[in-house]
Amino acid sequence: MKTKIIKLDKNNFNEDELKEASDILRKGGLVAFPTETVYGLGADGLNSEASGKIYAAKGRPSDNPLILHIAHMGSLKELTADCPEAGMKLANAFWPGPLTMIFNKSDRVPYNTTGGLETVAIRMPSHPIAYELIRKSGVYIAAPSANISGRPSPTMAEHVIEDMDGRIEMIVDGGMVDIGLESTIVDVTGEVPTILRPGYITASMLEAVVGPVNFDKAVLARKGDTGIIPKAPGMKYKHYAPKGDLTILEGTTEAVIQAINKYAAEKTSKGFKVGIISTDETLSCYPKGMVKSIGTRKDEDTIARGLFQILREFDDEGAEYIYTESFESKQLGQAIMNRLLKAAGYHIIKVHDNGLATEP
Ligand code: TXA
Ligand code: MG
Repeated sequence: MKTKIIKLDKNNFNEDELKEASDILRKGGLVAFPTETVYGLGADGLNSEASGKIYAAKGRPSDNPLILHIAHMGSLKELTADCPEAGMKLANAFWPGPLTMIFNKSDRVPYNTTGGLETVAIRMPSHPIAYELIRKSGVYIAAPSANISGRPSPTMAEHVIEDMDGRIEMIVDGGMVDIGLESTIVDVTGEVPTILRPGYITASMLEAVVGPVNFDKAVLARKGDTGIIPKAPGMKYKHYAPKGDLTILEGTTEAVIQAINKYAAEKTSKGFKVGIISTDETLSCYPKGMVKSIGTRKDEDTIARGLFQILREFDDEGAEYIYTESFESKQLGQAIMNRLLKAAGYHIIKVHDNGLATEP
């Protein structure tokens, strides 16, 4: 299949430029498009056959459900069996935007889209191209991130082309995304809203609207925690993993720099290609290896935006061992560390000020 690529300026495009993409979606084809979080791989979510194609193109396990993207609040009624008060409040506060909610599904939503579940994930994206594509096509777009299953999510059209060229009908290139991490997922089917995947909308932002929220245990899991099955099926799979062996170093800045330099020296002396994920603040502190800055600690948003791209770059450059600083913080830090831990297969080393390292 030849994949057509069209380029649009998200702040200045004409709806007619999305006609072909809309036609493809209506006819049951696949179109990748930008959202404010990451690029999505879209199909008609109420067409069982069409959403089935998404699994094939991504190589995605069939029990991993898709998110339905909507453009109007009214669509909730059609797609859900009931809409709890917490869901309404959160929708009013954060939609359109990077929040996905899990509801009990209506009969309209096929099991192919929900991975066989009785619940459905719904999000109203704020990206103008995503919004217009849903509106113009008139379909509820089922869209996972537009990467091959297991690879880092795409934050630029180039990443989508890398993974999906020849597998789908069209890619809409709207430039670099704004956020760079997938949406926060909150299950609102229970008594207390529960975060299944951390994202740009943080727990405290949610709590300001609906009161206390819980975390699914799997979100906070670390290496060695066994028997925890995440409520979001997708969170149980190995994900975002670069080809190289990724290790996270945690501790004071000085101790982390020292430890990374020690590991990098060891590996480079044995002839391995080493990648280092630093920040603008520490870029010049690493004499060995391929050193890249993920962003600046003065603005967490830049780190979120840089994460998936830097993992892909190290793949392209053949890094065999990758060492990264850690990014703990109350706001975006949780979402960033959640992705980083999965990418590292939970390989995190605590570095103490005395220079000793422990692996939990
Ligand atoms: O930001 C985003 O959410 C992006 C853009 C394209 O919208 N999409 C995205 O989709 O990240 P995906 O498929 O990569 O991640 C969806 C996650 C998976 O972990 C999946 O298991 C979970 O949502 N999910 C979907 N439906 C669910 C349901 N009914 N119950 C629990 N988890 C669900
Ligand atoms: Mg994904």
